[in-house]
Amino acid sequence: MFITFEGIDFCGKSTQVELLRKYLTDRKKIVEIIREPGGTTISEMVRSVLLDKVHENMCSETEIFLFSASRAQLVREKIRPYLMKGYYVISDRFHDSSTAYQGFGRGLSVDAIINIHNLAIGETIPDITFFIDIPVGEAENRKRQKLHHELDRIEVSERDFFEKVRNGYLYLSKDKRFRKIDGMQSIEAIHNHIIREIELLEKR
Ligand code: ADP
Ligand code: TYD
Repeated sequence: MFITFEGIDFCGKSTQVELLRKYLTDRKKIVEIIREPGGTTISEMVRSVLLDKVHENMCSETEIFLFSASRAQLVREKIRPYLMKGYYVISDRFHDSSTAYQGFGRGLSVDAIINIHNLAIGETIPDITFFIDIPVGEAENRKRQKLHHELDRIEVSERDFFEKVRNGYLYLSKDKRFRKIDGMQSIEAIHNHIIREIELLEKR
């Protein structure tokens, strides 16, 4: 099963990925966790170009191609081989992040981005995608607890950008692949919701 987590920065994805990993491994499932952008030697190098604050002049078109280049490599080098071997593959962000951030956030054509996804990931579409939704104000509260130098090039963006990204996710999450979860609940309540959804999907 291929499971992805989405949402604006600080929504709680990494926390939930880790809890789900533990839940599945406790049940003797074999699990592989993927980090986007990154996860292969090539993808990690692309990641460092993408997130380095030195590159403040990077244009949106370059961004979408770099994120997609990193993902194309990850899909072929890791995700597909692991799925073939029967692993649960869990990715903290995947193609929906590019649609939300570069499409809705930066204003690139969503249709063009969907065409790029077709080339980069092809048929490797997640079985289920958890969108953890928090208001931008809550993300800012959580962000304030971090030191500025710990934030990457995209995390330092303005509030207006994250409002657009969140609206993008709200739109995307109407698709039946998505499960929208209220990220203002406790960590435990969100985790319980996620495992209920996974169990329901497995019974199908
Ligand atoms: P992401 O991977 O989406 O950026 P993290 O899992 O790293 O998010 O969480 C961002 C911050 O919010 C961390 O400090 C984390 O402890 C906190 N956090 C995560 N989930 C919740 C929650 N449900 N309620 C309150 N704080 C949370
Ligand atoms: P990530 O390291 O996952 O940050 P976080 O743990 O805070 O979620 O992602 C880095 C940043 O890159 C994050 O601000 C979201 C952004 N991003 C895009 O803009 N497009 C993409 O396709 C992806 C995968 C991430």
